[in-house]
Amino acid sequence: MSDWISFYDFKHSVIYVNARHRDVHYRTIAEDIRAYVPSTSAKVLDYGCGEATSAELVADAADHLTLVEAAPNVRAALSQRYAANPKISVRTPDATAALPDASFDLIVMHSVAQYLSAAELARLLTMFRRLVKPDGLVIIGDVVPPHLAAPRAAIALLRFGAANGFFWAAVGGLLRIFASDYLRLKKTAGLSHYTEAAMLEKLKSAGFKAERAPRNIGHNQRRMTFLARTR
Ligand SMILES: C[S@@+](CC[C@H](N)C(=O)[O-])C[C@H]1O[C@@H](n2cnc3c(N)ncnc32)[C@H](O)[C@@H]1O
Repeated sequence: MSDWISFYDFKHSVIYVNARHRDVHYRTIAEDIRAYVPSTSAKVLDYGCGEATSAELVADAADHLTLVEAAPNVRAALSQRYAANPKISVRTPDATAALPDASFDLIVMHSVAQYLSAAELARLLTMFRRLVKPDGLVIIGDVVPPHLAAPRAAIALLRFGAANGFFWAAVGGLLRIFASDYLRLKKTAGLSHYTEAAMLEKLKSAGFKAERAPRNIGHNQRRMTFLARTR
């Protein structure tokens, strides 16, 4: 398991300042992803979905939603949460890699690219290129541009908290993040940042025609979402 995967397996409570933050965060993302679901017959993949506490919003708009999460404890919680929902299944990354070509109409990977090395991202984009249907869409969201990423993320979190009734919890949460091993991991495991041009080039190298979306998925509009198609 990579250091970031184990961080998310055991420390996701550090990232979400309280349950309200976590739930507003996942509801915002689910509403944004739902807007991209092309039809109620669509097969959707959310790769690196995290706790995905509003996944039923996406599943309700689609035929089926596959949630993929590398962190085993997070995955076990997802399996339990959605056990009774036949429109949602939970898979490991390895089981996803074994799926047949053209399995999905929509593939989303949101707020994961920063935790991947350049080689890991390239490998996943190649897999998505294989798994998406010829007329399907791949969305890479929450791509972090270089320069002032941490202060901008902190300001975006405080604004998100102020707009959703958890401002002081967000202040406390930021202090907790500073005290956690997030910053140590940032130095040792690193975070990957991309300019718009660099991510468009990565997507092109993986065989996609790509463009930057007008809005990022989620609350941080300093970050970028990319829409990639095979034709
Ligand atoms: C910030 S969370 C994003 C969760 C959710 N997609 C969201 O937008 O809230 C980052 C996710 O990336 C996953 N992740 C980190 N490193 C990874 C890797 N090398 N391969 C696959 N997933 C990874 C973690 O397990 C975690 O769920």
